[in-house]
Order: sequence, then structure tokens, then C-alpha cells
Amino acid sequence: MNQVDYLRISLIDRCNFRCQYCMPEEAELNYILRQDLLTHEEIITLLETVFIPLGFRKFRLTGGEPLLRPGVVELVKDIASLSATEDLSMTTNGYLLASLAEDLYKAGLKRINISLDSLNSETFNSIIGRPKSNLWQHTWLGIKTAYEVGFDPLKLNVVVIPGVNEKEIEPLAELSINRNWHIRFIEFMPIGNGDLFNDKAWIPSEEIRETIRQKWGLIESNIKGNGPADIFQIPGAKGTLGFISQMSECFCDRCNRMRLSADGLLRPCLLNETGQIDLKTLLRNNVKTTEIKDKVAQILAIKPEINYKERDSGNNTGNYGRTMSQIGG
Ligand code: GTP
Ligand code: 5AD
Ligand code: SF4
Repeated sequence: MNQVDYLRISLIDRCNFRCQYCMPEEAELNYILRQDLLTHEEIITLLETVFIPLGFRKFRLTGGEPLLRPGVVELVKDIASLSATEDLSMTTNGYLLASLAEDLYKAGLKRINISLDSLNSETFNSIIGRPKSNLWQHTWLGIKTAYEVGFDPLKLNVVVIPGVNEKEIEPLAELSINRNWHIRFIEFMPIGNGDLFNDKAWIPSEEIRETIRQKWGLIESNIKGNGPADIFQIPGAKGTLGFISQMSECFCDRCNRMRLSADGLLRPCLLNETGQIDLKTLLRNNVKTTEIKDKVAQILAIKPEINYKERDSGNNTGNYGRTMSQIGG
């Protein structure tokens, strides 16, 4: 079993996109009220008094869209300056990076993962649920800005949806050839929009690898990530290709992470709600942080069983009370 040292911190559940696979229509969403979001100070307190003493060293900021959170640059700065922080990263849709990438980098964020499901602006718009808008160019500018500012590694996440963007596997993979970009193909998971999901809604990673193998060849990379991606490379490419295969393969055994939602729920596993603790309520009821730490330690101790519960169910679809945007991806 891996050491659990990686916390994904969702900063906000709102998003300026509406990706089909992540968020249902607006009307169905109950957004977290502003007063229920963990504050900047509460996040730092939890890191300093609970998570860092328990051995957490890697932090990823997620959403919804984390860049919509007021004060995000200051939060990055404060987390980056904690002496225990070994890795601070973010997963974003990239739309606001054209204006924020430089400030984020200067504040101490060094690594960023950006969703990019298509290189075609019409397909992109249809996936992000903003059909009349033209947001691709701005997102692409955000990606280029992040690259120029120095984010390294820069990872692009592609959720592969049959009949929608599967024809773009080759052009997207090609982005890894000339730049040190890491393109990750993700098997679509049935969280958030069950209607999209049926037997044909996801493509096994091995099929995607075969498409790439036929065109350029494909080698297993000796670069090891710290997450669920299996890493490969087109021979001679500067960047890599990652495959996140949560539907065709179970990587629960190597899970190294917990998730903190924007309203302070600590979730040991993406795929089930067992063991979830409401840290915000504990903090706001003035429960001593040493007691909160003990409660988190108890959950950490049973995390393998919680993971295995999912693995042994042979069911990667889980039972979700929350959408991906509300859990934080
Ligand atoms: P690094 O490897 O640290 O760069 O990050 P990451 O790949 O863990 O982060 P990212 O936010 O880019 O996540 C990409 C995708 O991986 C998510 O959309 C999920 O589909 C999948 N994923 C991440 N963590 C888990 C997990 O614990 N369980 C499952 N089933 N899928 C996960
Ligand atoms: N299945 C797989 N990946 C998803 N993401 C969001 N929803 C899903 C889903 N249902 C991915 C996005 C983003 C990351 C945080 O999660 O592509 O990059
Ligand atoms: Fe927003 Fe990311 Fe969900 Fe798309 S995947 S709707 S960008 S939170």
C-alpha cells in the first residue's frame, strides 16, 4: 500500500464551463453557499495542524474551476511557503490562465494540469456545454501562456468520448512530440452525467494506445508519475502520453490521495463516500485541532479497506451523492 501523502483541495464547486461529463445542467446543481466554503485561513489551519503532521506533502488545488476562487493567488503563495510543501499543483480548465499564469507561477505554483478535450473549437464548445461561445482560442492562449511562463511539467487532460473527440486522439497525441507536454487520455467515468454513460461511453486505454502505436510506435516511459496515469512515449518525443484507465483497470491499490471538498468534507476515496468527515463543522464547533487530527488519522488507517471495498465490488461506477465538479475531480 502506498503512503497517503497527497491531498486534493477543491477551492470552489462552481465552473465557467459545463463539461458534459462533469456537471449536469445548472438547474440541478445546488452550489455551495459562500459562507460554507472553507476560508483561506481554515485551509491553512487544516494543512498546518492536521494534514502536514500526518505526513501529507503534496497538494493539488482543484474545483469546479479553482481559478474562480477569489484570492486564489494568495492561497497558492501561502501553501507554497509552508516548509513541508514538496509539491503544489493545480488542475484547471485553462480559461483564466492567460491572465493568471504568471502570477500563479510567481506565487509558487510549479505544475499544472489543464483539461483540453479537443483541438477543434466547435467540438470543444459542444463538450464544454457552451455551444454558442468561442472559448477554445482563449483556452489555447491560456495553455501557451502557462508553457511560456515556465510550468513544467505541463499536462493536458483529454477525456475520450466515443463519437465526440475520439477522432482527435492522433492530433492530440502529436502535441507531445515537439514540446515537453504530457498528454493524458482519461477513460470517461460515469460521475456527474449518468445519461452520457452507457456501454459505449468509454474507450479502453489499450485501444487508444493501439491507435497511436500504429501511427508512430509507442514505448513505455521510464518516467513514473505520482498518480494513476500509466506513462508511455512516442519514440523520440519530448513529452509523454499518460493513460488513466479507471474503467478498464483498477488502481485502488496504489492510491496515495484524499480529497477535501470546498465545503470541508474529507473524502478518502473518489468512488465512495465511506468514512467521509465534515472537517469544516468540526473546526467551526471549535473542536481542538489535535482531536481533528486523530479523527483523520483513524480514517487514514482504514483507507486501504475503503479502497478495497471499491476494488472488490468490481464496480468502478460507485454510488455518488456528488458530481465530479463538487468532489474536485
Ligand atoms: P498528477 O499525476 O499529480 O499530475 O495528477 P493527477 O493525474 O492525479 O490529477 P488530475 O487532476 O489531472 O486528474 C486526472 C484524472 O485522474 C481525474 O480526472 C480522474 O479521472 C483521475 N483520477 C485522479 N485521481 C483518481 C482516483 O483517486 N481515483 C480514480 N478512479 N480516478 C482518479
Ligand atoms: N470522467 C473522467 N474524467 C473526468 N473529469 C471530469 N469529469 C470526469 C469524468 N466523468 C476530469 C477532467 C479534469 C479532471 C479534474 O477530471 O477532464 O481534467
Ligand atoms: Fe468545469 Fe472541469 Fe468540470 Fe469541465 S471538467 S465543467 S472545466 S470542473
